[in-house]
Amino acid sequence: MNAVQPDTGQQILTKPATGFPAGFLWGVGTSAYQIEGAADADGRGPSIWDTFSRRAGAVRNGDNGDIAVDHYRRFAEDVELMARIGVSTYRFSLAWPRIQPSGSGPANPLGLDFYERLVDTLLGKGIIPVVTAYHWDLPQELEDAGGWPNRDTAYRFAEYVGMAADRLGDRVPLWSTVNEPWCSAFLGYCSGVHAPGRQEPAASLAAAHHLLLAHGLAVGVLREKLPATSRISPVLNTMTVRSASDEPADRDAERRIDGLANRLFLDAMLRGQYPADVLADTVGLTDWSFVQDSDLAEISRPIDLLGINYYTPMLVAARPDGQAPIRADGHGNSNVSPWPAADNVNFLPQPGPRTQLDWTVDSTGLHELLLRIHRDYPMVPLVVAENGAAYDDYVDPAGRVRDPERIDYLRGHLGMVRRAIAEGVDVRGYFVWSLLDNFEWGYGYSKRFGLVYVDFATQTRILKDSARWYATAIAHNDLPADDTIPGELL
Ligand code: FCB
Repeated sequence: MNAVQPDTGQQILTKPATGFPAGFLWGVGTSAYQIEGAADADGRGPSIWDTFSRRAGAVRNGDNGDIAVDHYRRFAEDVELMARIGVSTYRFSLAWPRIQPSGSGPANPLGLDFYERLVDTLLGKGIIPVVTAYHWDLPQELEDAGGWPNRDTAYRFAEYVGMAADRLGDRVPLWSTVNEPWCSAFLGYCSGVHAPGRQEPAASLAAAHHLLLAHGLAVGVLREKLPATSRISPVLNTMTVRSASDEPADRDAERRIDGLANRLFLDAMLRGQYPADVLADTVGLTDWSFVQDSDLAEISRPIDLLGINYYTPMLVAARPDGQAPIRADGHGNSNVSPWPAADNVNFLPQPGPRTQLDWTVDSTGLHELLLRIHRDYPMVPLVVAENGAAYDDYVDPAGRVRDPERIDYLRGHLGMVRRAIAEGVDVRGYFVWSLLDNFEWGYGYSKRFGLVYVDFATQTRILKDSARWYATAIAHNDLPADDTIPGELL
């Protein structure tokens, strides 16, 4: 292992005026369905994303994750790339349908073998493995039985997490339970732009509750099975929600969206209660009778770290009665809103540069978010578990991928992390999304988030300039003074 301490729950970090604290985790992230491919290998069962991506019109260009970037077979090469960049840690997800193909019944040892090979290869290079147990690939059989709106799915999840912990728990020091339950619940079951593609606002709230319950049950199982030094976190796509004005109606729109985006998850996990205003806002959809007596105690089991993902802020305003909705932002790639009970909210266009996904680049949103979470939920250290940007990258005639916009993006956002730390926010690490160009969900292979360019036809990998810039930052434990790109990693 290198000098970075995985014991992130205990460390007291020094806060220098420049640079990042000693032991700061410099990471990259991926998820199973987006990179692995090998959809039928070694007994893997179908997931909701296999099914959804075959639905006409669901994914751009009809793309799917059958092959993805073939990481299942090329993982050793990919770990080598990480070692060249010099990352201290790698966040990846386990595919539930590889480990327990139908979502119930015995573990599939061949699936676990793959993750064991990956973990051992990482450790061999001194890279700390950080596992996410659920990054959206629910076994299809569980969806057929009702999916996340069905309470039993949470218990199935805890059982599967136990299987993974039995095999990998002695070597993986940091475990994340669920990734972005907001997306699973509301993109999956409300707007339907993600698998399983259902448009059932009431059911999406039950899905959110059961994802939270799944998290809590999994924390319980992990505490039992993991060594005492292991650390456990959820990963949330907390959002920076800004109001267009101080008018009470706009402020109320902000409160509503903040409730569904942030407080629904944070209050449940960290305060053991659902926010009263969110319960009131959604009363026309559900009476929340799916919440059983001990659920919130389960959901609020102590965690060691909170992973937050940030890409872009949101600007909201009240929508006057009768006006057509403005959905310039706020996950607008569908006509159906992902927000249950927020029909009266407009998502306004924001000034500034935009990424390939049309997301506004605004690093102050990350600063605001870190400070806000630290202020309102001071009980838990933070880690930026995802941050990054898609651009239309291409290989130039010299065989190089120049991505100065991504370097700007990373510099700006890392600078805000550094500033937040200097202001007293306890941020333990930062993970660029993503190591590799990959299957970007509903956008298929049309959006490139990687530090590493992938030629999807040949599976050739090329370190982009941003990978080399990131390597310099890691080596200095600080932002590079200029944008000179080191050549030696080529
Ligand atoms: C997040 C997802 C991740 C990736 C990025 C761009 O919402 O967790 O898989 O798609 O967005």
